Amino acid sequence: MRSNASGKEYLEPAMSSELERIKAENAELSARLTDLQQRLMQAEKLSSVGALASSITHEFNNILTTVINYAKMGLRHKQAAIRDKAFDRILASGQRAAKITTGLLSYARNRSERKDALSLRQVVHDVLVLVEKDLQVHRVRLETRFHGEPYALVNAGQLQQVLLNLIINARQAMEQGGVLYVSVGPSATEPDVVEISIRDTGCGIPADRLPRIFDRFYTTKTADDQGQGGTGLGLALCKDVIDSHQGRIRVESVIGKGTAFTLKLPSIPAPAAAAATRSTAAPAAVSPVAQRAG
Ligand SMILES: Nc1ncnc2c1ncn2[C@@H]1O[C@H](COP(=O)(O)OP(=O)(O)O)[C@@H](O)[C@H]1O
Ligand SMILES: [Mg+2]
Repeated sequence: MRSNASGKEYLEPAMSSELERIKAENAELSARLTDLQQRLMQAEKLSSVGALASSITHEFNNILTTVINYAKMGLRHKQAAIRDKAFDRILASGQRAAKITTGLLSYARNRSERKDALSLRQVVHDVLVLVEKDLQVHRVRLETRFHGEPYALVNAGQLQQVLLNLIINARQAMEQGGVLYVSVGPSATEPDVVEISIRDTGCGIPADRLPRIFDRFYTTKTADDQGQGGTGLGLALCKDVIDSHQGRIRVESVIGKGTAFTLKLPSIPAPAAAAATRSTAAPAAVSPVAQRAG
């Protein structure tokens, strides 16, 4: 009895202090894991900005050329009509530049975890503004299809990151150019589900590789002359983000024909304010991006 009791007295403090130590270690490890996951996410984010950097720089060059030429024209010609035209072009160019920088900055900076009721059409549109030039430079034609005005509860920065990765992957799979189809709309088969699909006419993915593409660090890309290789993190992060949105991600691929990624997210009713604006606004069936890129 006594030895039992004393054994118990002896064991319990030792065990519970060991347990406390393990608990503390566990908490520290999981905090470090969260921190590392966030860093990976940020690294992948910067890698996608890197992939767009050269085409965005080119676009800024073109914008500056336009601004300079129209400013010269306005200075040379005294007629009001010509000057007005010059001001119009300068303004439009400036606004386009501002749209790109604002989009890029908010994408690179946004690290919040908040989910908002957002128009998926708007989120997709904001991403297309960033990739439009990159697609053009790589001879990829963009075709968009928007059905209705679906809303979902999403973290805008994270969803943008998912879309950017899918679009950049698609562009990289079309080395000789091709067509990128982007569509947003309600699922034809499932109620209260909205689908975003990103489809390319690229090289496709061999069936034996398909099960591995969502693995962390799985990449088939080697560094190019600008040092832009793959991180192998994109699709792993896409999956994490879509999981955290209670969604699903599906891939279909045919060698030599192309690949389609479909995101399925739970849809929510359009917020009242947005619905009111919508009913007064003129319907825009095709986004301005799609019209220009065609
Ligand atoms: N649209 C696509 N077409 C062909 N292969 C693709 C496509 N998307 C992804 N892949 C394959 O999946 C791999 C993993 O993609 P990802 O996780 O985004 O990493 P990374 O782009 O850094 O290589 C790619 O290296 C590529 O082999
Ligand atoms: Mg990628």
